[in-house]
Formats: sequence, structure tokens, C-alpha cells
Amino acid sequence: MNKHGGYQGNKEQVIDFSVNISPFGPPQSVKQGIMESIETIEKYPSIDGGDYRYLLQEAFSLDKLDPRQLIIGNGAMELIYLFARSLKPERVLLIQPTFNEYQRAFELVGTKVEYFILEENSGFTIPEDRLIKKIQNLKPEVLLLCSPNNPTGVRYDKKLLKGIARELSDWGGILFVDESFGEFVLDKDPYGTTGINNIFILRSLTKFYGIPGLRLGYGIGHSSLIEKLLEHKEPWTVNTFALKALEKIAAEKEYPRQLADWLREEKTYLEKHFQALENPGLKIYPSYVNFYLGKIQGIPAKLVQEKLLEAGIYLRTCEDFQGLDHEHFRFAVRTGKDNEKLIQGFRKILKELSDHK
Ligand SMILES: Cc1ncc(COP(=O)(O)O)c(C=O)c1O
Repeated sequence: MNKHGGYQGNKEQVIDFSVNISPFGPPQSVKQGIMESIETIEKYPSIDGGDYRYLLQEAFSLDKLDPRQLIIGNGAMELIYLFARSLKPERVLLIQPTFNEYQRAFELVGTKVEYFILEENSGFTIPEDRLIKKIQNLKPEVLLLCSPNNPTGVRYDKKLLKGIARELSDWGGILFVDESFGEFVLDKDPYGTTGINNIFILRSLTKFYGIPGLRLGYGIGHSSLIEKLLEHKEPWTVNTFALKALEKIAAEKEYPRQLADWLREEKTYLEKHFQALENPGLKIYPSYVNFYLGKIQGIPAKLVQEKLLEAGIYLRTCEDFQGLDHEHFRFAVRTGKDNEKLIQGFRKILKELSDHK
């Protein structure tokens, strides 16, 4: 299994910045809906979630799409593995550094996985000309990227994505865009790159709605691709409670607004205070979402992690991502007091380091 965030140690009262999920937990309406639907577990849920796709359209303003362009999954994760299993492409190109499950999903079905590694000194942005050349040379059946990207927080431009899709279409290739963190983008466009024949978009409800234990995600793609995925999908993977949660989320107007307000405020706070730490070795990369990638030049992230843990704060080291190294770490945005503690923790570390020089 790949490494993921989440504190596993035995220290009590740790503030876990290593998981990039809403710190508020699910909306009350979701919890209540689940409690109220307890009796319904006596019946099988919908075989493939097909009848519930209209709820995705309501929840995420996707009413311009045909329901046949949508698929519901047991988390976004099910759809990553289902996509790989259904298409079994010979060659996939991954834009790295990125979420590490894509590689596993494709390698398990015998796909050759190739990388295009983004450079840190270009802020992990995509050099369009170089990528297009690589695509033309390699002719991958699938190019997969995550936008906004986990763990860099970079969002790729819509025009660039359309250009990549156009290139791939010459040999029937598909652009797979994982937008699992898309709900956190403050100026989001629900349609983005939807409706383009050879783009498959993946979204997760886990992160924004604070429901990792429930498992709910969805995909958007051309109806023929969705049909193919449905042919390979196992029955009943999306359970009764997850479908109930979707119904509640579709009716939930307040929670997304609250999350946007929280995120705007806390990102402003964190960015201002990290800047005020004024340390030439400290680098926190700009991010569109609810987490940041960073490093302290010359200092192993493991040491930063250990030092912060002494103050009850836990962040994720990133040495397991292709294109990152032992200095990189990732932390999520949490609520006010937690974020203040994070800043205090970094202030202390940086002071200790400069005292040692
Ligand atoms: C980029 C990305 N995509 C997909 C997933 C899987 O999300 P889910 O919990 O909906 O399966 C994750 C989980 O960490 C992720 O970071």
C-alpha cells in the first residue's frame, strides 16, 4: 500500500495537519440523514448509483450535462482503479509530483507508467511546449494529472488542459483530470473542462464534506466512456448511507458558503504569517486549495515533523512523491487556533535553527 497522511502514533491530543480534509466534519444534515436512514440497510442500495445522478447535477450545478455523462463511486478512489481496469491502457503519462495511487492503479493492470516531472524552480507549473513534445513522442492512451494538484496546490489552466486534450485526441487518447480538491477552489467554475469528449474529470466528496469514512466521489466523461466504466463496475459499491449523504449534500446551501468563508480567512492568515516569519530558507508554495507544500532549505522534513510533534502538531513528509525529496512537507489549513499553533510551531523551529548557526 502507498503512504498517506494521517497521524498513527500514540501521542494524545495531536492536531493533525497531515490530512487535507475539511476540519469541520460533515454537515449536520448529512449526519442526521444517515441516522434517520438506518432502517434502510435492510435493502440493497442502487446497483450502480445510476438513479442518483440527478443529485450530482443538483449539488454541483451540473444540470447542463446528461446524466449518462456521470458516474458515482465509492470515493474517488474506486473510480481511479475502475478507470485503469476498464481501459487497461498500454501506456499512461503521469504529471508528477502527484497523488501516488494513480501509478498503483495502472501498474496493477499491467500498464506502463511514464512520468513528466515538473520542476520545483518553476513552481511546479507545466511547461506547455515541453509537455506537448513529450506527448507527441510517447503517444500515451491516457495522460493523468491532478488539478488542483495534491501535494503542490497548483491549479492548471483550463486553456492548457484543452490543448493537451486536443493533442491526445489525434490517437484517441484521454485526458484524466483529478479534481478531488476542486470544491476548495474559491473561484471555481463547475463546468471547467466538462463536456469535452476526451476529458474525464474525477471529483471527491470526501475532502470538502469531511466524510472520508463514508466513501463518495464521482466522475464526468463522455457517455461512451461512462458506459464502459459501468460495464466493469462491481454492483452495490456505493452504500445506502453514502447515497443518503448525497441527497443531503444536494440540499445543503449553507455548508459550502461557510467553508469558502473559513478557507478565505484562514488562507489569508496563514500566508500573511508565514511571510512575516521572514526566513530565507523557508519556502511555502502558493496554493489554490486547503493545503500547502513547503520546505525549510537544508532541513529534513522528518526533523521538522518531529519538532512540531513535540508541540502537538503533525504534518506530512513528502519524500514518497516522485519529484519531491526529503525536505518537502505538506500541511492542511485548519481552524483559527490550530493555525495559530502551527505558525507558533514554525516560529520556534526557525528560531532554534538560527540559534544553532
Ligand atoms: C488527489 C486525490 N484524488 C483522489 C483521492 C481519493 O479520494 P476519496 O477519499 O474520495 O476516495 C485522494 C485522497 O487522498 C486524493 O488526494
